[in-house]
Amino acid sequence: MSASQDRFDGRVVLVTGAGSGIGRVTAQRFARDGARVACSDIAGEAAEATAESIRESNGEAISIRCDISDPESAKNAVEETERAWGELHILANVAGILHIEHTDRVTDEEWERVLAVNLNGTFYASRSALPLLLKNPESAIVNVASLAGLIGQAYCAAYCASKAAVVSLTRVMAVEYVKQGLRVNCVCPGGVPTPLIADFTPPEQADRDLMSRLSLVPEMTSAEEVAEAIAYLASSAARSINGVALPLDKGVHAA
Ligand SMILES: NC(=O)c1ccc[n+]([C@@H]2O[C@H](COP(=O)([O-])OP(=O)(O)OC[C@H]3O[C@@H](n4cnc5c(N)ncnc54)[C@H](O)[C@@H]3O)[C@@H](O)[C@H]2O)c1
Repeated sequence: MSASQDRFDGRVVLVTGAGSGIGRVTAQRFARDGARVACSDIAGEAAEATAESIRESNGEAISIRCDISDPESAKNAVEETERAWGELHILANVAGILHIEHTDRVTDEEWERVLAVNLNGTFYASRSALPLLLKNPESAIVNVASLAGLIGQAYCAAYCASKAAVVSLTRVMAVEYVKQGLRVNCVCPGGVPTPLIADFTPPEQADRDLMSRLSLVPEMTSAEEVAEAIAYLASSAARSINGVALPLDKGVHAA
């Protein structure tokens, strides 16, 4: 999956969660390969910092404050992208939140918030982007699900359920729009060193043995590796790849 210079020349990309971690690196990856990038995030200043970093490297980027769990806000992000460049070829749904707790202690509010951001937000952004994406003969959505969407990860009920649903949504849309030139795939990273994982604190009385099953080797996958996989799936080099949930987990899912 080597990056080729300018493989996204002329393409317009909207990245959610672009203010931090995987989303920031993904926005920068697309821009380095020639794309015009709309960097959106609920943290507007962080999104602007990403866009600024792209412009400082002579790339083209705008920032948009957007809460993907709010359908109007998600729609507005797409509309602002259209106002800037008049088209949209690629949507990278990266924004997400993690919540860790014993399943029997998860509150209604915690459950609903995780589903609202990770699942509803991916749906709202995708639904809003579809009319623009489908105007192009070739377009792509890449969702960031998680290894947690493929396996049962202790103390992550809402997160796992939301990410498994993102895998399912990916497959549905991949089938539904293939004849119109849209491909929909998702990546399923294991641990990636970002602020999200830095906040990872096991719940009280957690069984460490259950948690240690999440990795086979000590090294984590880097945000750059995830961004590269997202860019590859969005590129024409992956034109036959549609509806996949690609683990980036150093073999944990296979094991
Ligand atoms: N870090 C990991 O180990 C890991 C593993 C697998 C999957 N993921 C997924 O990768 C994605 C990116 O996570 P990250 O690790 O870069 O975390 P991160 O916390 O560094 O970045 C997440 C970004 O999403 C934004 N965000 C949160 N709620 C939002 C909302 N309602 N609307 C818009 N933006 C919102 C945050 O402001 C933040 O900038 C998430 O979907 C996460 O579930 C992360």
